[in-house]
Amino acid sequence: MSKAFDVVVIGGGPGGYIAAIRAAQLGLHTACIDEWKNDKGGPAPGGTCTNVGCIPSKALLQSSEHFEQAGHHFADHGIGLKDLSIDVKKMLGRKDTVVKQNNDGILYLFKKNKVSFFHGRGAFAGQKDGVWEISVTGAASETLSARHVIVATGSNARALPGAAFDEERILSNDGALRIGAVPKTLGVIGAGVIGLEMGSVWRRLGADVTILEGLPTFLGAVDEQIAKEAHKAFVKQGLKIEMGVKIASVTSDAKSGVSIAYADAKGAEKTLQVERLIVSIGRVPNTIGLNAEAVGLKLDERGAIQVDGDCRTNLANVWAVGDVVRGPMLAHKAEEEGVAVAERIAGQHGHVNFNTIPWVIYTSPEISWVGETEQQLKARGAAYKAGTFPFMANGRARALGDTTGMVKFLADAVTDEILGVHIVGPFASELIAEAVVAMEFKASAEDIARICHAHPSLSEATKEAALAVDKRTLNF
Ligand code: FAD
Ligand code: NAI
Repeated sequence: MSKAFDVVVIGGGPGGYIAAIRAAQLGLHTACIDEWKNDKGGPAPGGTCTNVGCIPSKALLQSSEHFEQAGHHFADHGIGLKDLSIDVKKMLGRKDTVVKQNNDGILYLFKKNKVSFFHGRGAFAGQKDGVWEISVTGAASETLSARHVIVATGSNARALPGAAFDEERILSNDGALRIGAVPKTLGVIGAGVIGLEMGSVWRRLGADVTILEGLPTFLGAVDEQIAKEAHKAFVKQGLKIEMGVKIASVTSDAKSGVSIAYADAKGAEKTLQVERLIVSIGRVPNTIGLNAEAVGLKLDERGAIQVDGDCRTNLANVWAVGDVVRGPMLAHKAEEEGVAVAERIAGQHGHVNFNTIPWVIYTSPEISWVGETEQQLKARGAAYKAGTFPFMANGRARALGDTTGMVKFLADAVTDEILGVHIVGPFASELIAEAVVAMEFKASAEDIARICHAHPSLSEATKEAALAVDKRTLNF
């Protein structure tokens, strides 16, 4: 029997589950379908983010950072440790517990907000009298009907041609989060966000990590000055990063591990032999099993669902959000789109400001930014002023023992409006929020420079960088 809903959301990642909650809050009768299974076969909503992305990677980053601190920095504080060891099984178990807490939290939120949850695969089954029919195939099979459908089916890891993921030796993000023992040697292809975060985790735990990157420039999307500072720090920590390589082949066997043949930046042929290899070369939008073609849902040349600025697809009352559409593949971008679409369905005017979406790379030092980079401003011939402030001159950073990096402000040369803020250093992930608020409210650098910031705090570096735009830092 058909169950009739105002809104059916396909996919329960951050785009989908948040869209469903917002739609329900707005009084729409809402269902969310998600097929992710936990190790017992039960539902595990939260998508890539919760199960094999943001949450477990941050759990392992935290554990491995504690290990790094204990091994290399506790002594600076006069704390002595004997026989430091890492129990990888326990560390992975803790990570799994954190993931489960998040899965359970989403199921609780569905109940609280009266969202009907269906565990299984959702697919377009057709349309009758302007109402969509969505089949759910799971433990039980049923058909739902919906006035509006929100597709939030996410993305999957891109494999290197000829090197399929086996999750034993050739690992996607999924396998990279489940390595059962610290490998002696670990290769990573792609010095992007996952490569740097996961490479850092296993390097901190003792692996000899080599990252092979195809492009000649390190973190090309990041402000050049910030990327250079981060690169310096990573190399000092022991991450080996080779830029401008061309991968020729990847072979693997149980005895000798993984062998990667490649040409280096100068064209010399080389081989890297490692126990395990993480391939992190980007992600592809996921529309598998959605029956998109049968109903004429248009995809673009990258396989993403084609949408307009408001996340409308080419089909009436079918919307799409998150990794499965254009734009940055970030959980908070997916969430914002989910909220905006739910509000549009309810007749409101939801809006996502793509100019103020923050980025964070959770390495140590952390990297974060919002707005334009200096190279982007130069490329568009913008008249701008820049101000930087090093954490070396910040009292709290010194007390923390973490003085790597800086805060950098870019502001319009005439109006002083903030055009971009770039941070590399301690708690950059938290510090960036102030810059996002400032840019959302079209603040000037002077606005931040005149706001009282607590002392001693890392946020004083933000204030000082804003002062630096006008060449009047107080502590440097
Ligand atoms: P997803 O989270 O991929 O969710 C899609 C869901 O839909 C999945 O549960 C899937 O099973 C389900 N699904 C798919 N098809 C169907 C179907 N036909 N029927 C039913 N269910 C279906 N982003 C950040 O902002 N911060 C981070 O720190 C961060 N760290 C990351 C670390 C890693 C290792 C990875 C891989 C990604 C990370 N990301 C991070 C990116 C983030 O995970 C994604 O941008 C985010 O999950 C996208 O959300 P989504 O809802 O669009 O899709
Ligand atoms: P990415 O796009 O960040 O990095 C991929 C890297 O691989 C790029 O530097 C690219 O030049 C390189 N590359 C591509 N093909 C290659 C090849 N054949 N040989 C060598 N190098 C090659 O993608 P990544 O790291 O896989 O992450 C996917 C996405 O997941 C990110 O773009 C981001 O949107 C999201 N993510 C976000 C995180 C965060 O917000 N902290 C953390 C992890 C992932």
